[in-house]
Amino acid sequence: MQDYHEFLEGVLIDEEALQNRIRELGQEISRDYQDKDLLLICILRGGVMFLTDLMRSLTVPHTIDFMAVSSYGVGVRQSSGQVRITLDLNTSIEGRDVLLVEDIIDSGKTIAYVLDMLRTRRPRSLQVCALLDKAERREADVPIHYRGFTIPNKFVFGYGLDLDEYYRNLPFIGVVDPNRVVIPE
Ligand code: IMP
Ligand code: MG
Repeated sequence: MQDYHEFLEGVLIDEEALQNRIRELGQEISRDYQDKDLLLICILRGGVMFLTDLMRSLTVPHTIDFMAVSSYGVGVRQSSGQVRITLDLNTSIEGRDVLLVEDIIDSGKTIAYVLDMLRTRRPRSLQVCALLDKAERREADVPIHYRGFTIPNKFVFGYGLDLDEYYRNLPFIGVVDPNRVVIPE
C-alpha cells in the first residue's frame, strides 16, 4: 500500500477541529434528546470513528446499532444509486428516537435509500447526523439535522473515510491529490 503522504494534497480538517466540532454536536444532541429514547445507528464502515467520538460527548442515555450498505465498488468513487443492505440492524427501531450517524453525505442517494427503508419500521423520530456534507454534489434531497462541516467537492480520506478501504485510521480529514494516487486495478 502506498504511503498516504505521497498523495495527500493537504489536511482539510485537523484532529483538533474535528474533536472540537464533535463535542459541540454532542452537546447539541444531548440537549435535544433529553427525555427521549435515543438510538444511534451507524452506517458501517465509514461512520465508526465519528460514532465512537460522538458517543463520548453525549450526556444522554442511548443505545447503538449498526448497519452496512454497499453502493460504491472498490476503486469506483461514484455512488451508483444502487444501494444494497449488506448488514441489517439487530434491534427493533419501532417507537425509538433514531439518529443516523453518517461519515459523509455526497450525492445523498445512500442516505435517502436508508431513510426510506427505516421509515417503514415506524421509529418515533428519525433524524440525520453527518460529519461531512459535500453539498455541491447533492442529487437526492436529504434532510441533515446535525452537520459537522460542509466541504468542497474533493475526494477526502481519514477519520473513518477510506481510500479503497485503507487509511480509515488517520485522525484527520485529508484531501486526495488525484494526480498522485495509485489507482488499483
Ligand atoms: P452518496 O450515496 O453519494 O451520498 O455516498 C455516500 C458514501 O460514499 C459515503 O458514506 C462514503 O462511504 C462514500 N464517499 C463519498 N464521498 C467520499 C469521499 O470523499 N471519501 C471517501 N468516501 C466517500
Ligand atoms: Mg459510508
